[in-house]
Amino acid sequence: MAVATSVTGGVPTMTTAVLLCVLVLRITACNAQAAAPAVYMFGDSLVDVGNNNFLPLSLAKADFPHNGVDFAAGKPTGRFSNGMNAADFIAKKVGLPTSPPYLSLIGSATLPITGVSFASGGGGILNSTGEQFKQVISFAQQLEYFSLVRANAKLVRQLGPAGADVHLSKTLFAIVIGSNDLFAYFTTGSAVSIKYTPQQFVDLMVSTYKGLLKMLYGLGARKVMVTGVGAIGCCPIQRKSNKTGGCNTGLNYWSTKYNDGLKLMLQDMQLQSSGLKYAYFDIYGAMTNLFLEPQTYGLTEIKKACCGLGNLYADAPCIPLSSYCLSRKSHVFWDLYHPTEAVSSIFSDILYSGSQQYMVPMNVEQLLAV
Ligand SMILES: *[C@@H]1O[C@H](CO)[C@@H](O)[C@H](O)[C@H]1NC(C)=O
Ligand SMILES: *[C@@H]1O[C@H](CO)[C@@H](O)[C@H](O)[C@H]1NC(C)=O
Repeated sequence: MAVATSVTGGVPTMTTAVLLCVLVLRITACNAQAAAPAVYMFGDSLVDVGNNNFLPLSLAKADFPHNGVDFAAGKPTGRFSNGMNAADFIAKKVGLPTSPPYLSLIGSATLPITGVSFASGGGGILNSTGEQFKQVISFAQQLEYFSLVRANAKLVRQLGPAGADVHLSKTLFAIVIGSNDLFAYFTTGSAVSIKYTPQQFVDLMVSTYKGLLKMLYGLGARKVMVTGVGAIGCCPIQRKSNKTGGCNTGLNYWSTKYNDGLKLMLQDMQLQSSGLKYAYFDIYGAMTNLFLEPQTYGLTEIKKACCGLGNLYADAPCIPLSSYCLSRKSHVFWDLYHPTEAVSSIFSDILYSGSQQYMVPMNVEQLLAV
């Protein structure tokens, strides 16, 4: 956007820029560099930037060392990472600050116009997912929170419902969810594994997702980034229980079956929903490629977690008692489940500007430009 260039004879002051925004742009982002006016983030621990810090009973937490060892000031933030996660990298690429956790904003008089994060570690597509963590925010609950934000947000008060609709139609809605549902299904003796066959379960994941996506569309979302589920059978925790150190082939197989259903659902949704555009990230494919050619990405350790204890450092999560590696940039996994900052950065690059090899039918940069 041309805010700066429209002012001749020098760098505009902050006040000038803001004034121009108000006068000229009114209903679009008042951020000269941003590719979207806002980012609303939904999902699980891959993109949680601190919501679970505010859930007193939750066992899915990362607000203690050694998480955040590479974050500004080396402090834990609630991110399940040594540093930043994909939510941070995506926001940076869009040109906006990372959307703050919704639960950190309860009671504040205003909400940030540039977006909010609802992502919650341990959360899933199904309401029952994450029960073992006592307290998580399910996808459905995240959407309920978004509907409250939409109703109360400064943007609706300032711009009126029509202006808010335009704002939301340009906004990026990013969703990273599904892994925890599959982990739950493949936990021995879980209620869902007794109730459903694997095919019925992935179908239920997809149909539930579709219902929630319809709701999001109804609330004004038009540009949606959706990630599939990665090769989660290759997490250190899964490799640990395989005698050969190989991936859990069943978990990987059903991840691909779920992703297949998700892709079809998205095509279907687009046909049924006028104006809806999406960017689907085949994170499974990208991850498989990363395991095959780690050196291309400067990675050398694809099996063992960086922070943990015991076999593959997967006998314990990343807790203060755990050890952690010095070569964080060469590890794929930070802990028994989560990628390092380095890998989140690699995936965010693909997501934002990668080719159709992994981004279908377009990448996020293209999604925001259409
Ligand atoms: C899931 O939880 C939401 C509230 O967060 C509720 O509205 C919805 O009916 C629940 N879905 C099912 C299938 O129980
Ligand atoms: C264990 O890993 C091997 C490859 O090393 C794979 O062929 C086998 O299917 C895996 N076992 C399970 C239960 O996934």
